[in-house]
Amino acid sequence: MNIIAVQSSNRPDGLTASLAKEVLAGATEATDNAGKCIETAVVDLNSLKINVCRACGERGWGQCREGRGCIQDDDFTQLYERICRADALVFASPVYFGDLSESAKTFLDRLRRQEWSRKEAGRLRGKPVVGIMAAGGSGNGPVNAVRSLENYMTYIGMSHVIYLPTSRQNQGVQFKAAREAGRHLAGILLEGHPS
Ligand SMILES: Cc1cc2nc3c(=O)[nH]c(=O)nc-3n(C[C@H](O)[C@H](O)[C@H](O)COP(=O)(O)O)c2cc1C
Repeated sequence: MNIIAVQSSNRPDGLTASLAKEVLAGATEATDNAGKCIETAVVDLNSLKINVCRACGERGWGQCREGRGCIQDDDFTQLYERICRADALVFASPVYFGDLSESAKTFLDRLRRQEWSRKEAGRLRGKPVVGIMAAGGSGNGPVNAVRSLENYMTYIGMSHVIYLPTSRQNQGVQFKAAREAGRHLAGILLEGHPS
C-alpha cells in the first residue's frame, strides 16, 4: 500500500508541504494501528522539469487523445507512472494569486489531457485524493483554488476527493483535518470504506 504526495511550493518545510506531510502522518498512524504497512513519499513538483502542454496536432487535441501518450519526453512521464502505481494521491499547492501555483497548473494540465483521453480506462479513475490549497499570505483565494482543482479532478476522474482549503487564519483547524484526512485515506485503502 502506498500514498504519494505531490506538493508545488519551493519551500519543502513550508505550509503546503507540512499539510501534505500531516495527511501522510495520519495515514501512517492508521495503518500502524491496523498492523499494516504503508509506504509514503513526498515529491517536490518544482524540482522536476515539466513543460507546458503543447496542445500538439493541427486542432490541438494532441496525440494523447488517440492513446499514443505525450509527444514530450520530460519528468512528467515518470511522475505520472509513480502516481498511477500509488494507491492514493495527496496533491498540495500554495495559493498564488487566488489560484493554484503555476507548476501545479502545468502538471495538472498534462495529467488532465492524459487521463481524460483514456475515458473509462483512465489509470487514475476512482483513486482517492486529498487536495490541499495553502494560502499563507492574506488568506484570500483557497476556495477559488479548490474550484480550480475540482475542475481538473472532474476531468481526471479521481474520486473520494477531500479538499482542504487552508489559510494562515484557519491552519490550526486544517492541520487537524489533514491528519484526519490521512486516517480516512488509510481507511479507504484498508477496508474499502472510510475509517
Ligand atoms: C506569487 C505569489 C502569490 C501569492 N498569492 C497569494 C494569495 O492570493 N493569497 C494568499 O493568501 N497568499 C498568497 N501568497 C502567499 C502564499 O500563499 C504563501 O506564501 C503560501 O503559504 C506558500 O506556501 P508555503 O509556505 O508552502 O511556501 C502568494 C505568494 C506568492 C509567491
